[in-house]
Amino acid sequence: MTTIANLKAVLGSFFHTPTYGAFELLEHALVELDDAGTICRITRAGDADFEQRVAAARAAGAAEPGAYLELGANEVALPGFVDLHVHAPQWPQAGVALDEPLNVWLDERTFPLEARFADAEFAYAVGHDLARTFLSRGTTTVLYFASAHLDGSFAVSRACADAGQRAIVGKVVMDDPAANHDFYRDATPDQALADTETFLDRVAALDAARRADDPRFAGAFGAVTPRFIPSCTDEALAGLGEIARTRNAYIQSHCNEGEWEHSVAIERFGKTDAEALASFGLLGPKSIMAHCTFMSEGDTRLFAETGTVVAHCPISNAYFANSACPVRRMHEAGVRIGLGTDISGGFSPSMYDNIRQAVMASRMLEEGVDALVDATRRGAGYPARISAPEALYLATKGGAEALGLPTGSFEVGRAFDAQIIDTRRAFADLTGFGIFNEPADRLARILYLATPDNIRQVWCQGKLVIERA
Ligand code: GUN
Ligand code: FE
Repeated sequence: MTTIANLKAVLGSFFHTPTYGAFELLEHALVELDDAGTICRITRAGDADFEQRVAAARAAGAAEPGAYLELGANEVALPGFVDLHVHAPQWPQAGVALDEPLNVWLDERTFPLEARFADAEFAYAVGHDLARTFLSRGTTTVLYFASAHLDGSFAVSRACADAGQRAIVGKVVMDDPAANHDFYRDATPDQALADTETFLDRVAALDAARRADDPRFAGAFGAVTPRFIPSCTDEALAGLGEIARTRNAYIQSHCNEGEWEHSVAIERFGKTDAEALASFGLLGPKSIMAHCTFMSEGDTRLFAETGTVVAHCPISNAYFANSACPVRRMHEAGVRIGLGTDISGGFSPSMYDNIRQAVMASRMLEEGVDALVDATRRGAGYPARISAPEALYLATKGGAEALGLPTGSFEVGRAFDAQIIDTRRAFADLTGFGIFNEPADRLARILYLATPDNIRQVWCQGKLVIERA
C-alpha cells in the first residue's frame, strides 16, 4: 500500500455538501492539514492571505516531497464516501442469486458463504480485498457487518485498518436455534453476548495500538450487531441492548426491510420491527438501521424521537425490500439518513451507483411505475423525489453525521478524506465538450457518469490509500 502520509496542503477545487439540499464548490482553494490529517485551515482565492499561504505551501512541498498537492486543471476533489451498510463476508456473492426472495437468498446462499468466515485467514483476505475495492471507489468510511464468528470478525477489523480505511465492524449475533442453521449460529445467547463483549474489547485495543503508532490512523470501532429480529432470541436482543447502553457502543441491525421481515415482528411481538427493536434498547442516536422501507408514521416518529439513523440501501431494496424507501418523507419528519451499498443484497460496491439509484428510486416512488394504474393513484401521493446533491449529502456528510465522525465534507475540524476526480479520462470524459460549465452541471456529470477510472487518488485521514497507475 502507498504510504504517503505527510500531506500538509492541497490546492484545487472541492465539491461538497456541508448542509442537506445544496452543494458548495470551493473553487481554487487551499486546504491545509494538521499532523493528524485533519483539516485545520481553508483559504479561498480572494481571501487576503491566499497568495501568501499558497506560496508557503509550495515552498514546504519543495522542501519535503509529498507535503503539497496541486490538483490539475481537469481535476476536482469530492469528500470520501461513508457507506453505512455492508456485509463483508458476502463480497464473493455480489451479483449472485438476486432473483430469489430474501429468506431463500439468505438461507441457501448467504449463510453457507458467511459460515466460511470460521476461517479467519479467509475472512482477512475477503475483508482486505473489499476494503481496497471500496477505497478504489472513493469510500473511506464503512460500517460493516462481519460474520457470527469472533475471530473472523476481528480479522475484518484488522484488514480494514491495514488497508487504511476507517471502519466500524460488528460481530453478527444470530443465536436462535429455531431460526438459524446449526452450521452457522451462536452456540447460546450467553456465548453471543460474551463474544460481542470480547470483540468490542479487541477492536478498542486495536484502535488504541494503531493510534499510538500512527497519528493519522483513521480509526477502528466496534458495533453491537443483532443480525435482525428474526434471527435472535429475546435474551440476546435484551443483552445486546444492555451492552450497547453500558458501553455507549454503536448498534446496527436491519429494520422493516420488506414484507416478510415486517410481518415476523408483528406475529412474534404484536409490534412493528421498529417498536420491537426499541423495546430491547436497540434504537438511539448511535443506532444505524438498514433499509427501513416499511415505516409506518409511528415508526418514523420513533426514529426521529430516538435519533436512530436509517441506512438507505437503494440498490438492495430493488431486489429484497418489496418497496422503495420513503427517504424524503423520513427526512422531512426529522429522521437522520445515510446511504449504504448493502453488499451483497446490493451488487455494487460503488456509492456512485447507489447515489444514482437513490435518485431514480425516489422518482419512481413519487410517480409510480405501473402505467395501467391511473396517474392520480399511480405514485406515492406525496413528494418523494430527491436530487443528486441530496443523495451526495446522504453518501458523505449525512453518513458522517450519522456515525458522529468528523468526515464527509471539507470543513475545518474534519478529516481530510478525499477522492481526486480526473474529469478528462479517455472513454470517461466528464466535461461534456465544455458546454455545461455551471458548477451544478459539472457536479451532476461527475455524480452520474464517473467511473472507477476517473478516481485517480483516494486520501483517508490525510494518507494516500489509492493511487491509480
Ligand atoms: N436481513 C438479515 N440479514 C440480511 C442480509 O444479509 N441482507 C439483507 N439484505 N437483509 C438481511
Ligand atoms: Fe444488509
